[in-house]
Amino acid sequence: MSVAPLAGSGKITVPDILRRKTNIPSSSNQKSDPGRERGESGRRKIVCLTAYDYPTARLVDEAGVDIVLVGDSLGMVVLGYENTLPLTIEEMLHHTRAVRRGVRKALLVADMPYGSFHGDRNEAVRNAVRFVKEAGAEAVKIEGGERRMELIAQLVEAEIPVMGHIGLTPQSMHSFGGFRVQGKTVEAADQLLRDARAVEAAGAFSVVLESIPRELATRVTSELRIPTIGIGAGPECDGQVLVLHDMIGLSLGHTPKFSRRYANVGEAISQAVTAYAEDVREGRFPSDAESYHLSSEVRERLLAVRRS
Ligand code: KIV
Repeated sequence: MSVAPLAGSGKITVPDILRRKTNIPSSSNQKSDPGRERGESGRRKIVCLTAYDYPTARLVDEAGVDIVLVGDSLGMVVLGYENTLPLTIEEMLHHTRAVRRGVRKALLVADMPYGSFHGDRNEAVRNAVRFVKEAGAEAVKIEGGERRMELIAQLVEAEIPVMGHIGLTPQSMHSFGGFRVQGKTVEAADQLLRDARAVEAAGAFSVVLESIPRELATRVTSELRIPTIGIGAGPECDGQVLVLHDMIGLSLGHTPKFSRRYANVGEAISQAVTAYAEDVREGRFPSDAESYHLSSEVRERLLAVRRS
């Protein structure tokens, strides 16, 4: 079983993330809400990254991110599916458990995959409970706005913190007709605002805003009391999230324009593998120093046996 580490010694919790709201709506009464008191450090932007296995989880956590998300992008960037829809709950649980073993400090959030929360609501809650109980997730992420309101409320009621996700929700790719920037018309922007308010009203502790115009993300961020975490939503969000494999150059497919590349790990792997293959073929690997040796006594005995 995978267990979340206890709070303390720098462990980031859901209330910590709530306190990191940078842009406080003017209507909120800060005095009556102690969770909203913040010093300078409480205003730091929230840094979120995806991870899908033990080594990436450890590296991302030790580098000091606030939230590690086991995103369902797992299906595309690690498992090679065309999109996120085929990913199963068992696959997500398997990878969340591996990530759990690598994360000590960051808040661990697991994505609910397509189909795991679209039917019977009690089954959706049971599926979310599995992420907490069997995989050690501290929160789940649910794609969708207004139409997920009741489910989010039910999950919160079951003590499962929820991160919302609105805008370009990849699980809706067929309804959207592909991967397109959302909220670009007056009607679409109004719908997005309704989605954001619904997710907050239902009790989510944060909301991902994906691929929406910067101006709209700014408006949502200034209106909500929960932190917004942007991906392709401009710099005014309370935090940012990226897909790890996109930002380190390990994604083999198309990467969107908002995904800044900080390293080229794919190229480093290719170069290393090519060099290794050449060394093996040319007899340069392994060297004598990379080989084990017998003691001189055993070597002599071995040679003597061969000579006799
Ligand atoms: O699946 C994922 O990685 C995500 C992030 C891009 C927010 O949902």
